[in-house]
Amino acid sequence: MAGLLSKFRSAITIFFFLFVVAVSGKPHRSSQILRPAVGFGKEKMSHLHFYFHDIVSGPNPTAVQVAAAASTMKSPTFFGAVVMIDDPLTEGPDPKSKLVGRAQGLYALASQQEAGLLMVMNFAFMGGKFNGSTLSILGRNTVFSKVREMPVVGGSGLFRFARGYAQAHTHTLNLTTGDAIVEYNVYVIHY
Ligand SMILES: *[C@@H]1O[C@H](CO)[C@@H](O)[C@H](O)[C@H]1NC(C)=O
Ligand SMILES: *[C@@H]1O[C@H](CO)[C@@H](O)[C@H](O)[C@H]1NC(C)=O
Repeated sequence: MAGLLSKFRSAITIFFFLFVVAVSGKPHRSSQILRPAVGFGKEKMSHLHFYFHDIVSGPNPTAVQVAAAASTMKSPTFFGAVVMIDDPLTEGPDPKSKLVGRAQGLYALASQQEAGLLMVMNFAFMGGKFNGSTLSILGRNTVFSKVREMPVVGGSGLFRFARGYAQAHTHTLNLTTGDAIVEYNVYVIHY
């Protein structure tokens, strides 16, 4: 009898404890649904157009090789090379035209069959209304194709929640130096 009573008591205690937690203890919320996307306004699409200057030669290169495999130099496609970039983005094809931002990140030679790059970079905008905002690009760039398309996987600042695509088209490639000027058209949906 005493055993049954103590079991009953502990059941009551547990029940009371759970009840107290349920009514008084607001659980710590790790996520919350905000509807509609608070403070973000309407979604819109922007088209950005600029030129990317990949300077590998001379005293001030903006693209430097930082790694390679032992076999990279024996590969016809330089498979395994990794290049870090801080390439200026300008309004026009002339490198002296207005700077709109910089492409910072890296590209890696990721194909054994052709000149195919893995691009992992942020476009950091440095002027106009997008000053301080960034777009993140992750994609495949077969540099000898006429137009290469790479996904925009995200962004920051005015480009929060960004998604879209970037199309690259080589404007000029100096075969002696390896320096390239690439035209970019970026279509991005953001708030
Ligand atoms: C961009 O923003 C930075 C930091 O706020 C500021 O120093 C710079 O003057 C701005 N540049 C332009 C072109 O507006
Ligand atoms: C390539 O660069 C070299 C060295 O700067 C220059 O002399 C040459 O004119 C350039 N070629 C083209 C096609 O721009």
